[in-house]
Amino acid sequence: MNNYAPPSERNFEKCFENLKSHLIILENKRGMNVALSDYGARVVSILVPDKNGRKVDVALGYNHIDEYLDSNERYHSATVGRFANRIAMGTFKVDENTYRIEPNNGTNALHGGKAGFQDRVWSRRINNRHEAEFYLVSPDGEAGFPGTLTVVVQYSLTDDNELRIRYRAHSDKNTIINLTNHTYFNLNGEGNESIYNHQLTIDADSYLPVDAVQIPTGERRPCKDTAFDFSSAKPIGDQIVMDDEQIKAAGGFDHNYVLNNAAYRLKKPVATVLSPLTGIQMEVYTDQPGMQFYTGNFLSGNDTGKSGKPYLKHGAFCLETQAFPDAPNQPSFPSCLLKGGDVFNSETRYRFKVVK
Ligand code: GLA
Repeated sequence: MNNYAPPSERNFEKCFENLKSHLIILENKRGMNVALSDYGARVVSILVPDKNGRKVDVALGYNHIDEYLDSNERYHSATVGRFANRIAMGTFKVDENTYRIEPNNGTNALHGGKAGFQDRVWSRRINNRHEAEFYLVSPDGEAGFPGTLTVVVQYSLTDDNELRIRYRAHSDKNTIINLTNHTYFNLNGEGNESIYNHQLTIDADSYLPVDAVQIPTGERRPCKDTAFDFSSAKPIGDQIVMDDEQIKAAGGFDHNYVLNNAAYRLKKPVATVLSPLTGIQMEVYTDQPGMQFYTGNFLSGNDTGKSGKPYLKHGAFCLETQAFPDAPNQPSFPSCLLKGGDVFNSETRYRFKVVK
């Protein structure tokens, strides 16, 4: 197995009209480091020591900024906004006014539509060797959304091997918001086999089944005794092959879990994932009500990652903490309204450990 190193900073310096992109490396006392780029306020690599003390890169990505621009996958480990996941027909109402985002995923708007945050160069501020912030202003009407939205995404790497992502946003008008991070993880090491051997636990009693275009039907379906039941640790590979219409239609998992975290929020993990190969375990903490579990069903093997290996279908998983998909159109879902003048505040943490 490779002993990974972060990509070169020079490879991430590129001029986009009047803005330049960069690579920023955070580090902690425990030998972990995380590379970030202001292009999409994204994660480029996460180096974690494995059970043998070797550094393993558990995040998919590329060695050069140009490969991000050429990739078939637009959302590689990026900050996703203004509205992560799908809005049916790209249409929603705020205060009785109807807004329309141009569809970019069949008939739906996905991940903020065509002008999503993943392709923007954000302003950056490096606070110290373990904390950096990215800043973006999205003008009123951009991509069709109401309100001038100011967003700050802060990444910090603690000495407990926790990558904390804190989101703050402010709008001058009533609007909708759903921000997430789209890191593709493989705890075997990026590009190293599928994620079928990963053992996953999710603290959710139900999930949101979807229709033929991946819009939630509104039902909250119990996970118990179905392929979606990760109430105790189970290999992803055992569940993904089960005879389940939802999994077959999506080509794997691509569903939002209704998290049980309302009472404990950031105090307990909502998900735990372990690779028996490396002994690397990741816990997810969030204050968001939902989490999209996505198994890289659209990764096609056409893109080659940092260590020269193709990124294959089911070669990674994402745990995208967020509001429920299509929440603006589904009154029974928790509200994703951000009132003009209010501040949206949210946090998600990915914590790494070694289990021997
Ligand atoms: C999310 C969606 C998927 C896919 C990816 C990006 O996880 O739910 O359907 O669009 O983003 O490729």
